[in-house]
Amino acid sequence: MSGAAVSSGIAITARQLTRKFGDKVAVDHIDLDIPSGRIYGFLGPNGSGKSTTLRMLCGMLLPSDGHAEVFGLSVVKDAEAIRRRLGYMPQKFSLWEDLTTDENLQFIADLYGLEGDVGARIAQARATYDLESLRRQRAGTMSGGQKQRLALAAATLHAPELLLLDEPTSAVDPQSRRDFWERLFELAEAGATILVSTHYMDEAERCHGLAIIADGRVVAEGTPRALMESVDADIFEIEGADGSEAPRVIRELPWVHGVTQLGIRLRVLADRSTKDAAEQLRALLARHGIDARIERTDASLEDVFVVSTRREKRGD
Ligand SMILES: Nc1ncnc2c1ncn2[C@@H]1O[C@H](COP(=O)(O)OP(=O)(O)O)[C@@H](O)[C@H]1O
Ligand SMILES: [Mg+2]
Repeated sequence: MSGAAVSSGIAITARQLTRKFGDKVAVDHIDLDIPSGRIYGFLGPNGSGKSTTLRMLCGMLLPSDGHAEVFGLSVVKDAEAIRRRLGYMPQKFSLWEDLTTDENLQFIADLYGLEGDVGARIAQARATYDLESLRRQRAGTMSGGQKQRLALAAATLHAPELLLLDEPTSAVDPQSRRDFWERLFELAEAGATILVSTHYMDEAERCHGLAIIADGRVVAEGTPRALMESVDADIFEIEGADGSEAPRVIRELPWVHGVTQLGIRLRVLADRSTKDAAEQLRALLARHGIDARIERTDASLEDVFVVSTRREKRGD
């Protein structure tokens, strides 16, 4: 099965992959088929199991159950062979704070046993990741964005086919985030497969494919567009009800999945099976003396997230 998976352009497969810590099930029987040469995202809140999954995929943590393959190789039996072909950027900065940029990169080159003109390779990495002015600066004194560029330079120094990036932008400013994503797209265009975890909706939206993860399970999967188009809810925006009791009374409706305040608007997620939802909302608000404008609108990724995690909780 693994051979066929590789030839069809799948970089990572997981079947019933599970990890427990004592009684806690951190990753709960997940299945994944992650295509190669693309940017694939794990979107999920803190504690949903993203890091644990990534650590199993790069062979740092043993599964409690199930299995996973990277390039057709077992993450348990072939961890060493896989490690040489992947770059991993952990959630927490893990380079040597006391070493400079050049020293860190040289250290990584030695770790991987890189051969040939290592100096040229390090110079290339400095140029690509804008580290020239930081050559002799210790990592511990760098800003979040600078550390992140150094970490990505280190993770890509051995030209890996696969990059696993664990919330790589959580400690950087918006401009650095944009620059970082430009680099990810360049790497993907050059053929790398990138698996990136995030809890930012806007980042998730930039991925080619996406798994939404909640409580250790994949609750929805697909391209961001397909996920938004197929969301199992109708979305309404209500204007003119701010500062009123509208959110509370709307939330009490059994067919409402959620109400969010966005500036002066309320965003309501309604069960798709509800007949005349807009009419019912209007009538309800009228009974409370609120004259509001109600409009149907397209689903966002956040809506997909709310609906799929809610369905998961209900267990249907
Ligand atoms: N080494 C560990 N020991 C015990 N529990 C852990 C360990 N690592 C993670 N967990 C727990 O597993 C769950 C998933 O964690 P994690 O994979 O870090 O989630 P995420 O990366 O999505 O924030 C959390 O409840 C976390 O507390
Ligand atoms: Mg994490």
